[in-house]
Amino acid sequence: MSHVRIEGLTKRFAGKPPAVAVDNLSLEIEPGEFIVLLGPSGCGKTTTLRCLAGLETPDEGGISLGDQTVLDVRGKVNLPPNKRRIGMVFQSYALWPHMTVRRNIGYPLRTRRVPREQARTRIEEAAELVDCAALLDRYPAQLSGGQQQRVALARGLAAQPDLVLFDEPLSNLDARLRDQVRAQLHELHARLGFTAVFVTHDQSEALALGDRLAIMKAGRIEQLDTPERVFEEPATEYVAGFIGMSNRLPLLRQGEGWALASASGADGQAGAESQTVVDELPVPRSHSEVSARLRPDDLQLCPAEEKPPAHSVGLPAEVVDAQFGGRHMDVVVTVGGSRLHAQAPLTGKPWARSLSRGQRVTAWFAKDVAIYYDADGVRTAGHTPTAAVGA
Ligand SMILES: Nc1ncnc2c1ncn2[C@@H]1O[C@H](COP(=O)(O)OP(=O)(O)OP(=O)(O)O)[C@@H](O)[C@H]1O
Ligand SMILES: [Mg+2]
Repeated sequence: MSHVRIEGLTKRFAGKPPAVAVDNLSLEIEPGEFIVLLGPSGCGKTTTLRCLAGLETPDEGGISLGDQTVLDVRGKVNLPPNKRRIGMVFQSYALWPHMTVRRNIGYPLRTRRVPREQARTRIEEAAELVDCAALLDRYPAQLSGGQQQRVALARGLAAQPDLVLFDEPLSNLDARLRDQVRAQLHELHARLGFTAVFVTHDQSEALALGDRLAIMKAGRIEQLDTPERVFEEPATEYVAGFIGMSNRLPLLRQGEGWALASASGADGQAGAESQTVVDELPVPRSHSEVSARLRPDDLQLCPAEEKPPAHSVGLPAEVVDAQFGGRHMDVVVTVGGSRLHAQAPLTGKPWARSLSRGQRVTAWFAKDVAIYYDADGVRTAGHTPTAAVGA
């Protein structure tokens, strides 16, 4: 276990146009902490891991692991991968096909010149950890996908590294196996207490595994926080969109109240037909436009002739599609020019089962479950359990 410090890390790639894959990124990781890097394709997650591992030559910055400086661009320090006490588990299991499971797991021990007897013990312990002790003499082609993934985990952990890097290690597994290996990994981390940086673009994986999440955008960290805070209080609209608040309703101030802005209008101006949909919102007076962000299960539906509850915003909506989801219906509706997703519970409300395309309904949400973002995408109000807004 060690404390990891990344300071001002920058990595550019030549090309047309040149890419700044990692842009002045700083991050401190506590010993034993499990950090998740979450972000869309191309935002620099893998490059950050490769810089940590010593597989890239960064342009600027420094990295230290415990009291060891492994990178200092100004000081011309960049230790090679085998001089860093780091384990790696990648998306493609990248097991060597011509090596048995035993030799695969032992690979990082050989590169570190661990004596043979000690290596043997470590390999068997690592295999035991991930339930693969019975597979040691098989070849990768003789294993199922989940077994291969577990062997890759064992290989990442075998050298008892201070830091383990995971690059979307579960994304090749089917849904059931992914849940199983994820639970195993969570338990392993609790037991062994290694420091981890785990890359994913799956929000539920991030929430489940991370002590803290770093939401990345274009080579930078947009928000660094506990899973609870990222989930409940995404700091920017970008983060909100990434953490499941897929519904966006643009609103414009109109007199004392707010009207739906036509989402299709390129200039963002409300059309002539726009009407006030809500008298007031918990938004500071200084804002003339906001967008409300909502999760699908926070958007409710009721028959058009019914009045939604007090302290909510009710909007005339038209059903585009409704799919049966077991205990709920997944419903797509249009509201003004916006396409929104609602999850309508069926328990006690069989009405939702009969929803069909073209049907007019009322979509509504409680004012205080939405999070409101200003024109720059910064959270201005909503979802703050304490009184401090924007703290
Ligand atoms: N070897 C390379 N040469 C040139 N550009 C590169 C190279 N590797 C990565 N990039 C660019 O750097 C940026 C970040 O890439 P990176 O692989 O770190 O993204 P990522 O967040 O891991 O994405 P994904 O989720 O798709 O794996 C991208 O714009 C990518 O095109
Ligand atoms: Mg990647």
